Parts: sequence; structure tokens; C-alpha cells
Amino acid sequence: MNAIGRRLSEVRASATMAMTARAIQLRREGRDIVSLSVGEPDFPVFPHVEQAVVEALRSGKTKYTAPNGIAELREAIADWMAREVGIRWPISQIVATSGAKQALYNACMALLDEGDEAIIPNPYWVSYPEMVRLAGAKPVDLQLRQSDGWAPHAADLERVLTPRTRLFIFSSPSNPTGAVWSEDTLRRLARVLERHPRVVILSDDIYDKLVYGGVKATNILQVAPELQARTVLVNGCSKAYAMTGLRLGWACGPAEIISGMNKVQDASTSNPSSLSQHAAIAALRGPQEPLEAMRVQFEKRRHLMVDLLRKVPGVEAHEPDGAYYIFADFSTLLGKKYRGEKIGTSSRLAEILLEDFGVATVQGSAFGREGFLRLSFATSEPDIRKAMERVARCATAVE
Ligand SMILES: Cc1ncc(COP(=O)(O)O)c(C=O)c1O
Repeated sequence: MNAIGRRLSEVRASATMAMTARAIQLRREGRDIVSLSVGEPDFPVFPHVEQAVVEALRSGKTKYTAPNGIAELREAIADWMAREVGIRWPISQIVATSGAKQALYNACMALLDEGDEAIIPNPYWVSYPEMVRLAGAKPVDLQLRQSDGWAPHAADLERVLTPRTRLFIFSSPSNPTGAVWSEDTLRRLARVLERHPRVVILSDDIYDKLVYGGVKATNILQVAPELQARTVLVNGCSKAYAMTGLRLGWACGPAEIISGMNKVQDASTSNPSSLSQHAAIAALRGPQEPLEAMRVQFEKRRHLMVDLLRKVPGVEAHEPDGAYYIFADFSTLLGKKYRGEKIGTSSRLAEILLEDFGVATVQGSAFGREGFLRLSFATSEPDIRKAMERVARCATAVE
């Protein structure tokens, strides 16, 4: 008899989390490790958010709330979305969740049946295919090309759509590539999706405030408002407000789908943390200057990391327009030797970088793309310099 269920046997543990855990373990053993594997801002929560948590705690806001979140929070989300995306959802069509991840998971559970397919652009965020599998459905790759700036071709989307397609899940800006899809790209995708009314669009907008070089992240509903009746937007406080550990996200969408997502939440985790809900109200309604200050820092670091990476022999790095990752091409190092051992995979290369050179990255294969490493620049400038110097040493040690 299997100890675990059939569905779970298909699901892989998050490589990002595994790398980060290994880096932490090595640090505990006294090693000097620079971690570029994490996907979170290295900034503390903003002062007014911290104050809101303390006040909520002191005033006894420590009880269960409505499963979809308190009305004041959903009103703050509605106002924020109206300001940032230009669309106002009634608060009955908004659900607050324990991080954007839970919103995405709830959507998968609410929408997918066995035999359904979910289209996911590849390279993808590690958790999308696993959520789809947990829901009993099948992830289907929409292959992207680096030469297109990791933007999809509408014709490629058309090719992978089938009568079983139920979901199209994407994030722009993307994790791991940092690509921000243009209005034109989104318009072309929307034109294809219009012809497939069974498909629900799940737009993960978690990085939409972290964009650089004057680029703006366009939302698919801004170019194709006619898709609103079957589009769910997911966002949250984790990235833009440096609140990863507080676990507060949300989804806005059609009444029937949001009600299904509420049902999933009600049956599993109930409400997101009451304290985090108050923190989120402060983040969304409070001063936005700290977000801009953080974004400016990320922009500088992005530039620094790309600059230094491009000097490393055999590495190709493009400057991403959003998020805080560089998805760098290390494929010329694969097949070469390190200390007599042929490096066969990005996973082995990431291991060598961590164990022998003290830099934690994440192998491209975890995101569906061999030959690449994902390096996060959500870390200090001195650490970026130190890490890039080590990456360069590793690259020259490979022959
Ligand atoms: C693309 C993407 N979506 C969602 C999430 C999860 O966000 P949260 O921490 O709000 O659950 C992440 C976190 O790394 C992410 O990269």
C-alpha cells in the first residue's frame, strides 16, 4: 500500500525552497554563503505596516474573520485595484487569501477537474504545474523563446489549446525570466482566447509593481476588457510591500469563480491571518513612497548584477524588465568539466556553485528550462558583488 495518495506522487517539492533550505543549513555550519535563491525582498515591512500589526494585536484583532477576509480589507483591495488596474470589483467578488499562492491554488481547485488541461508558459514559476497536478489536471507547456524576450507567440498558444483546456495561467512580470509582456503581445493572446470560451484566464500579477527602465506592466484586462467575465486577477502584499512572511494575497474575478474559491478556502484554511489583514489595509491605503524607494534599489541592483554577469566568460544575461530575477544562460558551461567531472545539468552546476563557491542559485530545470540558472537580485549590493566574483571563479574553474 502507498503511504501517500496517487495525486501527490505526481507532485514535486519546490526546488527554490530546497535550495534556500540547503543554503541556510550550510550557513548554520559556519559557511559563508551568499543566497541568490530566495524570492523575497530583503527589506523590512514598512513602518506604518508594522504599526498596524502592533495595533491590531493590542486591540484584540486576533479572532477568526469571515473566510474571504474582513470587509474593510476587501474595500481597500477594491480601491487599490481601481487605482492600479482601472477596474472596480464589488467586494463580494474579492477573496483575501494566505498569500497569492493560496489564491492561485484555490483557483486551480475551484476550476479544474480530472482530465482538464492548464496551459502554462515555460519557463514557469515552480508552483504552477504542481498546483495543477494537485487538482488532478494536466499542465501543458507553452514554450517561450529567449530570442523573443520570453514573450509568447499567439500562434503557439493556439497550437496548445484543446477542447480540454480549462485554464491559462501566466505571470507578467514573470518569475523566473523577469519578462514583461507588451500590450501588443497581450492583445494578440486575448484575440486567441476570445475564440475559446471555456478557458479561464488566471493572471498572476504579484510582481506588477516591480518594473524597471520606465516599463509598465499592462494587465490583460486593460487591453481586453471583454475577457473580464472569465478572468481572475491574483495579487498580494508579498513582493510590493515586502510582506512575504505575513502571507496576504487576494483574487478578484467573476462572482461564480470567486464563490468557488471561497468554498475551497472555507473547507481548508478559513481566513488569512487577522493581523496580516490589518497589515494589508495599512499597506494598500498608506503611503506608497517606501515601495518606490525599494523599487529604485532593485533597479540599481539589477543593473549591477547584469553588468557583472556579462563579464563572466560563457554566461549570457539579459536585463529583465520586472520582478527581481535574472534568468541567465549558462548552457555553454554544461558538458564541460569541473575537477574532472563532466557537468551534465543546471542542477549539478547549481550544486557546485553552492557547495564549492558559496553561492545559492536555482537551476533552470526547476522552471522547466535546462541550461539556465535563476539569480535573484533581491539582495544587497555588496552581496551581489561577492556572489558575481564567485560565479566568475566557478566559470573559470570549468574547462
Ligand atoms: C510568480 C509568483 N506568484 C506567486 C508567488 C507567491 O506569492 P505569495 O508569497 O504572496 O504567496 C510567487 C512567489 O515567489 C511568485 O514568484
